[in-house]
Amino acid sequence: MTYIAPSLLAANFANLTEDLRKIEEAGANYLHLDIMDGVFVPNLSFGPCLIESIRPVSKLYFDVHLMIVEPIRYIDNFIAAGADSITIHYESCKNCRDVLQYIRDKEVRTGLAISPDTPWDVIVPLLDLVDMVLVMTVHPGFGGQSLIYGSLDKVREIRKYIDAHALNINIEVDGGISEKNIGLATSSGANVIVAGSAIFKAPRPRQAIALMREAAEQNPYVG
Ligand code: DX5
Ligand code: ZN
Repeated sequence: MTYIAPSLLAANFANLTEDLRKIEEAGANYLHLDIMDGVFVPNLSFGPCLIESIRPVSKLYFDVHLMIVEPIRYIDNFIAAGADSITIHYESCKNCRDVLQYIRDKEVRTGLAISPDTPWDVIVPLLDLVDMVLVMTVHPGFGGQSLIYGSLDKVREIRKYIDAHALNINIEVDGGISEKNIGLATSSGANVIVAGSAIFKAPRPRQAIALMREAAEQNPYVG
């Protein structure tokens, strides 16, 4: 099963209820929420208040992607706002193990993200505390960038490792994904697909999601 995760960053912030309704009806699975602090990445987005406001109007699984330094400071706020999973960046914390354990202790699902310049195997010692690995397929910070194809090699390595060790861990890709290249991501072993521009900026988001799902089904991971 491929999970489609539209990224709210590309939505119309003046019309969030309507945008959320559209993607939910179109069969999206997750809502990807990009949190940026202007320090870990050179951009600002939104915080827990916005998530709290939209939580009552959406049944989607809230997939919170923290691009902030020392994320431990805000975990409680994002949980209180309604996060179903919280992904932290390997590069953003002094002790990722403690942060992942903290999230787990609160019975929220955990994610560990790696930026394009980070080797895939740094995550291995932490996998016992991880529900999802997020492989960034662009440099974090902005929507609308082009996919870095080489990052899919890391997806393949992580998929091989996870399968070889029979681990129950999802692999998410994020950045530059559209119906044109989603097949490369799924055939490399990704099963959670983030897409911002390709869905919310499409003339018909419903059709964009349907085309992405179709391309994903036609390009499964075969090992
Ligand atoms: C980038 C964010 C992405 C971004 C994806 O730092 O993590 O989630 O919104 O946007 P697109 O799909 O437009 O590349
Ligand atoms: Zn993201």
